[in-house]
Amino acid sequence: MRNSIDFSNKVVFVAGGTSGINLGVAEGFARAGARLAVLSRSQDKVDAAVEKLSAYGESAMGVAADVRDYEAVEDAFRKARTEAGPVDVLVSGAAGNFPARALDMSSNGFRAVVDIDLVGTYHVMRAGYDVLRKPGACVINISAPQAFVPAPLQSHVCAAKAGVDMLTRVLALEWGGAGVQVNSIVPGPIRDTEGMARLAPTESMQQAVANSVPLKRMGEKEDVASFALALASPLGAYVSGAVIPVDGGWSLTGFGEMMSQLADMIQQSKTG
Ligand code: NAP
Ligand code: COA
Repeated sequence: MRNSIDFSNKVVFVAGGTSGINLGVAEGFARAGARLAVLSRSQDKVDAAVEKLSAYGESAMGVAADVRDYEAVEDAFRKARTEAGPVDVLVSGAAGNFPARALDMSSNGFRAVVDIDLVGTYHVMRAGYDVLRKPGACVINISAPQAFVPAPLQSHVCAAKAGVDMLTRVLALEWGGAGVQVNSIVPGPIRDTEGMARLAPTESMQQAVANSVPLKRMGEKEDVASFALALASPLGAYVSGAVIPVDGGWSLTGFGEMMSQLADMIQQSKTG
């Protein structure tokens, strides 16, 4: 029985790993003994995350880069390879979101989210592949329920994250022969995150979201982190090409209806 969740001597790279869910995932791996590398745009956020992650005992490093800039992403992986070693676990979670109807956003607004979430994930996977420790590496894309539940105010995110999950499946096929697992984790509504603050900005909206989850609570960052650890550990070694909700059952409920209610509430708060 392979039941070890110990990441000592392993290197974990988390794109978008300087706040929210992705930082929670990075902390989970750091707590389990891994060396961490994180990437995001803001140097201040990178510095703060590196300080937090190094406090768990192993080394941590970070690079300020935009996932839309392929060369910058490649440079970040080269730096991580040199300073920390070949990457055992690659998590791609950089993303952007704002609630807006398709008719209320510009072409540039739609493209900004698709470029960060989908093209950025391709950049991270493509450049990251070259520094993965093969065979045995595990790639985890952080998706969202919008990938398979159509939701008002989220046309850009729905389109981008559906693309992310298809990339997961295609690259699981292409990279399986090299011994690389590729999966998507689909968090549900996670408490105390930028994503939820944008989609459900008031206490009453957040309560409504929590009530709409079959398990009757929002998720915690630790809920996502512990599943990522299991997936990347020997316990998850035979899982590849899977798109796995960690959402308390939210995606079963067709939460698009919930988003319709939120859309009305957001609209009302703007007008009155
Ligand atoms: P968050 O704290 O805003 O995390 C986003 C991260 O990505 C930050 O570290 C941000 O740092 C980085 N980032 C954004 N744009 C970037 C770019 N162009 N290049 C490089 N890094 C970039 O948000 P979150 O709510 O925790 O969401 C994290 C992930 O979970 C996302 O993939 C999101 O789609 C997914 N998710 C969230 C929820 C939720 O309930 N919150 C639910 C389902 C899925 P910088 O600002 O420094 O770049
Ligand atoms: N409604 C409609 N359009 C909006 C918008 C909103 N609420 N917020 C931004 N946009 C549009 C902008 O107007 C701009 O379009 P324009 O040039 O035609 O005016 C376009 O989106 C890009 O905005 P900009 O601020 O230049 O992009 P950016 O690359 O600096 O930031 C975002 C990307 C917009 C996604 C920004 O919200 C971001 O950086 N988010 C990261 C954090 C996050 O979203 N966390 C939650 C993850 S789930």
